[in-house]
Amino acid sequence: MDLWAGRFTEKIDKLVRDFTSSIKLDKKLYKYDIAGSTAHVKMLARCGIIKEIEAEKILCALKEIEKDIKAGKLNFNQKEDIHLAIEEEVIKRAGQAGKKLHTARSRNDQIALDERLYLREEIGQIITLINDFQKTLLGLAEKNLDAVMPGYTHLQYAQPILFSHHLLAYFWMLQRDKERFKDSSQRVNVMPLGAGALAGTSLPIDREYVAKLLDFPKVSENSLDTVGDRDYIIEFLSGAALLMMHLSRLSEDFILWSSPAFSFIQASDAFTTGSSIMPQKKNPDVAELIRGKTGKVYGHLISLLVTMKALPLSYNRDMQEDKLALFETTQTIKRSLKLYAKMFDHIKIDKDSMRKEADKGFFAATDLTDYLVEKKVPFREAHQLIGIIIKYCLGEGKGFKDLTLSDYQKFSSSFGEDVFERIKLDSCVFNKESAGGTGKKSLARQIEKARKAVSLKL
Ligand code: ARG
Repeated sequence: MDLWAGRFTEKIDKLVRDFTSSIKLDKKLYKYDIAGSTAHVKMLARCGIIKEIEAEKILCALKEIEKDIKAGKLNFNQKEDIHLAIEEEVIKRAGQAGKKLHTARSRNDQIALDERLYLREEIGQIITLINDFQKTLLGLAEKNLDAVMPGYTHLQYAQPILFSHHLLAYFWMLQRDKERFKDSSQRVNVMPLGAGALAGTSLPIDREYVAKLLDFPKVSENSLDTVGDRDYIIEFLSGAALLMMHLSRLSEDFILWSSPAFSFIQASDAFTTGSSIMPQKKNPDVAELIRGKTGKVYGHLISLLVTMKALPLSYNRDMQEDKLALFETTQTIKRSLKLYAKMFDHIKIDKDSMRKEADKGFFAATDLTDYLVEKKVPFREAHQLIGIIIKYCLGEGKGFKDLTLSDYQKFSSSFGEDVFERIKLDSCVFNKESAGGTGKKSLARQIEKARKAVSLKL
């Protein structure tokens, strides 16, 4: 008989049992469920709600159960959920004492606890994995300081930049992702037990003591809110969606860069796959799948938002549907981060190819405009003048380098001999020394800050 079935005369329908069961997913939470029960039972004994000897029996059963689950000796697949499965097992092993485990507790505050403990641990691991990947990107940036590449807007070549600068753009996106997860963990790290089903309890419990045992800095303030909201999961999923958005854009860059049209980088064989029909193919599937899985992570965020949007307070069974979103998302972002750290550690960079591409077209147009501004030509006039020179060049089939000083001076008397220095590829990259720019010194300062950012414990 189900533990809750006292008031029922009929047995639960098999279809209903299967439909309502969450065990296939929430058995993953057993470790946290047992940790929560352990703290709860210690508190019950300390507050005199159950006897010491009863607590000892329950604690002993919980320990054994944990060992047996780890060893794969317990099969809970027919149970409704992990909370009932473990409680039933405690009763089997600890007898009458076991029947006291669920005193002053409900599955509603229990699941909130399990998910908070789970998420707290996962967020810690995710922050470390983001940091590891940032280190990889930083290492790659530091190793390739001389690689010049075309910088794009609208995927049109705009101005030349350092490859390291492009990599570090992702470094800072990841830094914000890391900070977002860290910040959201404050709201995860709140102790829900004691909220009971929704109203609290008339028994003399000590929530602060449970919080201390489970290492929570505070207890929740309102029992309805405690069992009735999942905003901390939604917040985590939002952070995950943003992280995946960043990884997906990196995937896109990676896929473009490794295509023959760009040929800027090459993934190592171990991180690509072939085609079953075209023998020559080497495909960037890891990057494509990370981009693809991003859609699923967005879907999980939307799905939980929609699940929650019209629920009356407090707990509703709809909320059980949060598990797939939570578990799949943590798994996806952890795997993606691990893979990317490894894959970027093994890429080959074709600096010559990047440079050749960067050296094409009118990349110095903005630099020439700035050159005229330095000669006191108003910016709008300078912009127009350079546009006219480009029009002239296009008509003649020439580039900036093919013009003589007198050609330049036909357009403006402000041009001098020094113009030829300004149209060189390296000058165009290295002179962008404004804070946050792609210039040499500016990049060195950025790298220094990045180094600090990965060495600080968040
Ligand atoms: N399996 C449930 C969930 O994940 C646990 C809480 C069940 N509470 C209830 N009143 N039926 O949400």
